[in-house]
Amino acid sequence: MVYKDYFFDEPVFDLHDGGYVPLEKTDVPEKPLNIPTLLQPDKIEGNDIYYTVTAQEGETQILPGKKTKTWGFSAPLLGKTVVFKQGVHYHLHLVNKLPEVTTFHWHGLNVTGPIVDGGPHAPVYPGGSRDIDFTLDQPAQTDWLHPHPCPNTARQVWNGLAAEVIVTDQEEAKLPFPRNYGVDDIPIILQDRNYHDNQLDYKADYDMDGTLGKYAVINGTINGIFNVTTQRVRLRILNGSNRREWRLHFNDDHQFTQIASDGGTLPEPVELTKLMITTAERDEVIVDFGDKKPGDVVTLMSDDIPILKFKIGSYSRQDVKLPKCLNVIPKPVVTPDSKIVHTVMSGMDDQVRLDGKLFDMQRIDRKQKIGDTILWDVTNTNDMDKGMIHPFHLHGCQFLVLSRNGKDVYPNEHGWKDVVGVNAGETVRIAVKFSKFGIYMYHCHILEHEDTGMMAQIEAYDPDHEHKFHLISMEEM
Ligand code: C2O
Ligand code: CU
Ligand code: CU
Repeated sequence: MVYKDYFFDEPVFDLHDGGYVPLEKTDVPEKPLNIPTLLQPDKIEGNDIYYTVTAQEGETQILPGKKTKTWGFSAPLLGKTVVFKQGVHYHLHLVNKLPEVTTFHWHGLNVTGPIVDGGPHAPVYPGGSRDIDFTLDQPAQTDWLHPHPCPNTARQVWNGLAAEVIVTDQEEAKLPFPRNYGVDDIPIILQDRNYHDNQLDYKADYDMDGTLGKYAVINGTINGIFNVTTQRVRLRILNGSNRREWRLHFNDDHQFTQIASDGGTLPEPVELTKLMITTAERDEVIVDFGDKKPGDVVTLMSDDIPILKFKIGSYSRQDVKLPKCLNVIPKPVVTPDSKIVHTVMSGMDDQVRLDGKLFDMQRIDRKQKIGDTILWDVTNTNDMDKGMIHPFHLHGCQFLVLSRNGKDVYPNEHGWKDVVGVNAGETVRIAVKFSKFGIYMYHCHILEHEDTGMMAQIEAYDPDHEHKFHLISMEEM
């Protein structure tokens, strides 16, 4: 079975939004796709690995002419790719060389909040640093690092702060997936920007419903080309945009196979010709170019705009058939008396609310016992215009998507997720279980909605270990 649609409801695609900025074809000269380098450890001591990550300013040649002032993690733009291995104890030295406060949020990592996971309660002030450590105990997946200071996440990401994080484990390592970083296993960080005299100007482009740009910028490259040297290429796609949904397909409708979602390997490979990815989601796909010959060019598109070319070189033939079962995902135990809680995302522009409220850093909005599986019914009320998709994100765990308006979930939603796009007028049921006590954010991942206050926090508690958390206020940011 090959799926040929985007699954989501077409009437609420972002292109129907009043403030929509369409991507434009570019005349910027073609350039090799930037592949962020891997972050190297400061030291390795047995099972302990030490890294330093620095939020910094820099300059990047994005357009011809003047360089663009950009921000990045241990790099002028975006960030070095961080690789974590399951079972290893990591020590991270987080340094802020920016002129303002920031945080280091490990989106998708199963680490404790509100400090280690780097949400708004873990500020790192300019010139300062913070040290965190954790044992990585989750399966192989693609996550990311981005700032999360309240309420400046959107501007800081727009300025460039976003890095891919790759988690590896021994199970995934046995699967016949490409995993040669930069060669046949490549990050694809999807972003859109505008430039004003070659510079970013967040204020000028600001849109309360999510800031958009007309240039497709992938890994910091406009009009990039990737030289394919293997038959199969694995793309670790991250939607690192503030707002934009990407509707991906190849110019020749070339088929590809999705193998993973946010939280790791899917139970079964899913064959697709189209893929829509909402903000902050990750989708890993394998593209088999076995039907192409050297010199062929295949173009990745979003809607009808070319965004990245793949130039086929000579490769040694290697026909691989993926196993039917890739991963075993335990079904959550749901009984008729399973507890259901409700969360409502509503509004657009300055009317956005989560459960009718705006974010308050010192208010705990909900509690859940660790180890319990609770069903969350996440509703997007369709109460303004035609409504829009709100991508719902939860820190501190990976959840399973059980139903959409009581019906089946999309075919590529059978794996672990930490973001789910909720259509207008829809209720998505997810099964949520926390394993570590802490304070965790949940919010819409349209960054401007998050900054406006479409965010709340939950305490995952351990009845045997009472713990008082210090919640800072907005003034302390
Ligand atoms: Cu990717 Cu609370 O964020
Ligand atoms: Cu997150
Ligand atoms: Cu939203």
